[in-house]
Amino acid sequence: MAFVMRVVVIHLLISLLLLQLIKGDDDTQKLLIKLEKPKLQKCGIDRIYQFGDSLSDTGNCLRESYCEAQTKTGKLPYGMNFYQNATGRCSDGFIILDYIAMECGLPLLNPSLEENADFSHGANFAVSGATALSAEYLISRNIAMSFTNSSLSVQLQWMSSHFKSVCSNDCAKYLENSLFLVGEIGGDDVTYGFKQGRPIEEVRRIVPDIVKIIIQSVRTIIGFGATRILVPGNFPSGCFPIILTLYMNKSSTVYDEYHCAEEWNNFTIYYNNLLQQAIHELNREYPNISIIYGDYYNAYYWLLRNAVALGFDKKTLQIACCGVGGEYNYTEDKRCGKPGAEKACADPSTYLSWDGSHLTQNAYGWITKWLIDDILPQLNCHV
Ligand SMILES: *[C@@H]1O[C@H](CO)[C@@H](O)[C@H](O)[C@H]1NC(C)=O
Ligand SMILES: *[C@@H]1O[C@H](CO)[C@@H](O)[C@H](O)[C@H]1NC(C)=O
Ligand SMILES: *[C@@H]1O[C@H](CO)[C@@H](O)[C@H](O)[C@H]1NC(C)=O
Ligand SMILES: *[C@@H]1O[C@H](CO)[C@@H](O)[C@H](O)[C@H]1NC(C)=O
Ligand SMILES: *[C@@H]1O[C@H](CO)[C@@H](O)[C@H](O)[C@H]1NC(C)=O
Ligand SMILES: *[C@@H]1O[C@H](CO)[C@@H](O)[C@H](O)[C@H]1NC(C)=O
Repeated sequence: MAFVMRVVVIHLLISLLLLQLIKGDDDTQKLLIKLEKPKLQKCGIDRIYQFGDSLSDTGNCLRESYCEAQTKTGKLPYGMNFYQNATGRCSDGFIILDYIAMECGLPLLNPSLEENADFSHGANFAVSGATALSAEYLISRNIAMSFTNSSLSVQLQWMSSHFKSVCSNDCAKYLENSLFLVGEIGGDDVTYGFKQGRPIEEVRRIVPDIVKIIIQSVRTIIGFGATRILVPGNFPSGCFPIILTLYMNKSSTVYDEYHCAEEWNNFTIYYNNLLQQAIHELNREYPNISIIYGDYYNAYYWLLRNAVALGFDKKTLQIACCGVGGEYNYTEDKRCGKPGAEKACADPSTYLSWDGSHLTQNAYGWITKWLIDDILPQLNCHV
């Protein structure tokens, strides 16, 4: 608890400090003023459950032997700002889930595969590299998995057995004040396809099935008694070094005003729109349950627009802090932590991108703040 409070206080101080430094952008000012105390605390959330991929993993991949062998997140520089502790988080420090837990006044979530860990405040089922669709489905579409087979339905099975042991007689009561985070998940399904050379039109065809499995999972979770569920969409990863590098040598690439790959971000808009429609329909079906879309897409563009005012370096907004080579400091087979890319940049807090496909803790902190502002009215908290 002392640890959580310390982090909250430090963040508060940083926010206040920035407030002094920033003049200009009204939205930024307003946002900062609103950040002074943990905002989700008044929602009375007592447990958090997370499903997802490397955007949310806090150590499950490191506890699966095949996944562990593929990843470098168990070694520094990963975690260099998490008390020099590489826990499997894909960042230099905290991730969105950590900030959400802190804003709820809860301890950080343990990975569900950690033995003998405390799960009294929830559990994190996310695994780096996990897909929404099953390994079998993706193989049938000629998309190979590279990290893990622990897709969304596998993570749901873990949840079911967890609940069997902690609340078998009355899960609805046990989960009354809990928050479920279903995603982001599905980003890897499409990125694997694209990285393996599938044209974007082909990748587009699996999106309805991704949305279907996410919605099906939300139904399962509701069946256990969940009442508050956040379903984040995808980031505009056409602004990230990994996708920019894939588009770099195509002569026909179109960039938007922020130098993001427009074709990819258009595809992401299509994906996010389908997901939002499905969430909307589900909300009509369950008027008593808050199923909320997490708008990572607009959160990221907001950050990109305000990055310089928030203290990020204008020259490195699309350059990975930890990586090597190319225009974006990203080379697929020399990713962060691999030979040749064992060290990070001098000051990660001035970069948005940590390793080319994930963000720095500073970027995640700002994104969480935007997100909480956006979702709070829909969470039905008693103010
Ligand atoms: C790293 O974090 C883990 C999990 O929070 C903790 O058990 C461990 O003691 C930490 N190690 C160091 C060196 O701080
Ligand atoms: C993942 O699933 C595929 C298809 O069922 C199987 O061939 C592969 O061995 C599995 N990989 C791991 C790491 O379990
Ligand atoms: C792009 O082209 C350059 C020069 O031909 C080459 O060195 C580089 O590896 C290519 N990058 C990618 C991502 O294909
Ligand atoms: C992206 O979508 C916009 C709006 O529909 C369209 O005008 C633009 O041509 C699209 N860009 C690409 C590269 O497909
Ligand atoms: C919705 O909630 C109200 C009040 O808690 C309850 O009376 C009603 O039965 C619920 N309806 C459904 C469909 O769950
Ligand atoms: C690229 O990453 C390395 C660490 O892997 C870092 O030292 C370097 O400063 C980064 N390059 C740029 C241009 O930021």
